[in-house]
Amino acid sequence: MATSDPQVLRHQAAVAKAEAAVQLAVRNLPPRDPYRPSFHFTAPAQWMNDPNGFAYHQGVYHLFYQHHPYSTEWGPMHWGHAVSADLVQWEHLPIALAPSEPYDIGGIYSGSAVSLGDTLYLFYTGIQEDGRQVQCIAASTDGITFHKHKHNPAVLPPDLTVMDFRDPKVWNHNGTWYMVVGSTSNGSGHVLLYRSSDIVQWEFVGKLAESDGTLGTMWECPDVFPCGPQDVLMLSPMEMEDRSHRNIFITGNLDYHQGTFASSRWQDVDSGCDFYAAQTTEDDEGRRILIAWMDHWHAKRPSQEYGWAGAMTLPREVKTAPDGTIRTTPLPALAALRVKHYTLGKIILNAGDPNPLAEFRGDAIEIRMTVKKAESSASTLGLIVRQSADGAQGTAIRYDLRENNLEIDRSKSGFSPGPNPTCQIKGDDDTLVLHLFIDRSSVEIFLNEGRQAMTLRIHPDEESLGVELFSSGGTLVIDQLDLWLLR
Ligand code: FRU
Repeated sequence: MATSDPQVLRHQAAVAKAEAAVQLAVRNLPPRDPYRPSFHFTAPAQWMNDPNGFAYHQGVYHLFYQHHPYSTEWGPMHWGHAVSADLVQWEHLPIALAPSEPYDIGGIYSGSAVSLGDTLYLFYTGIQEDGRQVQCIAASTDGITFHKHKHNPAVLPPDLTVMDFRDPKVWNHNGTWYMVVGSTSNGSGHVLLYRSSDIVQWEFVGKLAESDGTLGTMWECPDVFPCGPQDVLMLSPMEMEDRSHRNIFITGNLDYHQGTFASSRWQDVDSGCDFYAAQTTEDDEGRRILIAWMDHWHAKRPSQEYGWAGAMTLPREVKTAPDGTIRTTPLPALAALRVKHYTLGKIILNAGDPNPLAEFRGDAIEIRMTVKKAESSASTLGLIVRQSADGAQGTAIRYDLRENNLEIDRSKSGFSPGPNPTCQIKGDDDTLVLHLFIDRSSVEIFLNEGRQAMTLRIHPDEESLGVELFSSGGTLVIDQLDLWLLR
């Protein structure tokens, strides 16, 4: 429908210009690219960071993302957009949001979406002309074209001296709308809570939670959701202890009347290096599904030479385990990616034995194995993926059975290796279930049915396709090993 509303026309023009820039970048993509994932979501071209507006709306999943259509570097943010029926195959849609108004001309930062009848509402942070961060609303009834709300900016910071005030996440609880926004004061991260009866006018409730001084200087991308008998506050704290940016779950109970969150404990969402800004949504089956940016702010990005930067993790289901900890597991629908299955059954491997996985080659592989810790005398299980024929290149996943920890050694992973993340395995199970997904430039590992996870990027040569399993310091007993080649 034609419109003469100047705001709508300005936004349409900004979207069209940005979309044309992306299409041009797509036409200029090189024919060969060693790094582009085959089954993880990436933008058609150019820069991408956080997942935004992840929502189940009228039978399909919508995923938006922080996007810079004009470059492979971060720049004035837009929202890219894609839809999927199963969270495995994605269809790109035109850019949904572009800076066009005084309240968002500096960029459209992260936020969330809500499905309400036939309308899909988007909540985002606008960067105003003066650099101040404000919360804004846009809506669509066709799921493709989004109009910015007349009420924008809908939420201003309670303290106008605070510049960090961003990433609204909106949800409904017992008929009332709630919004959390990430912010900071005196060098400690916190989350502010807002309430609304009509989704447009927002009332400030108060500070929902804050860092005790150890949980980061600024809380980005907050998310709140019920999970079994408890509530979860998920955050991306900046500058937390050793690693600069991290993603954590804080579990506890949200008192909607008091506007307080009584927390009992926290855990990492993922212990790898390339996992940030996770966001969840609930689908029509009541599943809580999480997706994150499979990258981080300080990474080197060799894919920029190939016209793109940034990828999403696999979608994961989030659940509370009987012991109150949160588990994240890859979605069962990902089984649709499997094209060939090999079962190796029980493997008894001694130090120096030939590689039982020597016949397999690939850059899109899923492996699942159950290690019998109690029956093994080995000190280390080693799994090398993306290995070159001469063994000079490869990403080594080493499980130390005595220390019960896992290290991913990227020193020979190809271009710009990055640090080697380690993870102390929780619990004292007799077995370790290792479930891995390799996708060209990424490794995602789920430990003990999602009790812990590790995600990271690697940049090996295209021809490095080998897989090696070895034992050192004794005998390794693996109950069952399954390997799938993925499409
Ligand atoms: C998190 C983040 C958000 C912000 C966005 C900007 O990675 O810093 O806080 O909205 O990225 O692109």
